[in-house]
Amino acid sequence: MSQVTFGKITLPHGLALAPLAGVSDRAFRRVCRACGADFTVSEMVSAKALCYEQRKKDPKNRSVSGQLASVMADELPMAVQIFGSEPDFMAEAARMIEANEYIGCVSEVPPSAIDINMGCPVRKVTANGEGSALLKNPKLIGEIVTAVVKAVSIPVTVKIRAGWDRDSVNAPEVARIIEASGAAMLTVHARTREQMYEPGVDRSVITAVKNSVSIPVLGNGDIYTAADALSMMTETGCDGVMIARGAMGNPWVFSEICAALDGRDFAMPSAAERFEVALTQVREMIAEKGERVGVAEAKKHLSWYCHGMEGAAAARSRLMQAVSYDELASILREMGGKA
Ligand SMILES: Cc1cc2nc3c(=O)[nH]c(=O)nc-3n(C[C@H](O)[C@H](O)[C@H](O)COP(=O)(O)O)c2cc1C
Repeated sequence: MSQVTFGKITLPHGLALAPLAGVSDRAFRRVCRACGADFTVSEMVSAKALCYEQRKKDPKNRSVSGQLASVMADELPMAVQIFGSEPDFMAEAARMIEANEYIGCVSEVPPSAIDINMGCPVRKVTANGEGSALLKNPKLIGEIVTAVVKAVSIPVTVKIRAGWDRDSVNAPEVARIIEASGAAMLTVHARTREQMYEPGVDRSVITAVKNSVSIPVLGNGDIYTAADALSMMTETGCDGVMIARGAMGNPWVFSEICAALDGRDFAMPSAAERFEVALTQVREMIAEKGERVGVAEAKKHLSWYCHGMEGAAAARSRLMQAVSYDELASILREMGGKA
């Protein structure tokens, strides 16, 4: 029904987990896939940092960007997202990621696609002309996409915003350039950079992009329920949807949408069941990053999993004090037992 195909990849329900810096790590990507996301995107990786890290002589082979870019076979199909503004660095980073040739690489396989970030609104990124700042320079967008497409054999996808600000909404024009430069799929976050994440998206921009290109278009912005996803698809004609904040603490949003698309009923798992999934995620985070970092990073995820439940505020402050997996697990299991 909402099947999306690009390159050799088919997304049966057209459902993607968005790239989320500090959130869409492998453990969370796996949980979202298990809940029904067809496709996931890594946290953004700086193309320049990845390239520069190759020049360091680190005997321990440590590389922050290298860790972020690594891909395991069981998480396909997924894309590694890169950001930057220089076509040469972007092309070289993409080539290294596809070839699994970089310091810190623990990949079993290449990613299914390379995604290019043209939406990040953070000042530290846009000040370098990267992320959403690229929307002010459509010519450079064409050069970057062309260079990356040439450097890899896997599909290249791009994620854009509506435009830089309300006076320069240019997503349809940018989308045409991206398609002409060889990209295989496009995601549109229907806010301008100026709007950052403020409530309300302009879905008409997604409609306009969809009418401007023939590659698949994923609609993104404020999807929290199956009703939101279905209305996004019917109102805009987009081929599928990408979800970011709506999946944080609620990966079952994907299960709910799959059920709605298939005409099945959906029942939310019980709190105790949800917390067991959350704890599986935490164990994977710890296996990958070690207990200290894993526990520290898990706290925000677990707070999201508690969202809206009775006693969530008290549980959150206990979670924040916890220093071990066992502590996190006992707080959650106590709460799950009461729910
Ligand atoms: C914590 C956080 C981190 C994000 N990191 C990225 C990123 O690394 N790359 C990117 O293209 N977008 C990033 N985004 C933007 C999201 O992918 C998405 O476009 C945006 O949140 C709108 O979707 P939503 O309304 O479903 O949250 C991030 C958003 C949030 C809230």
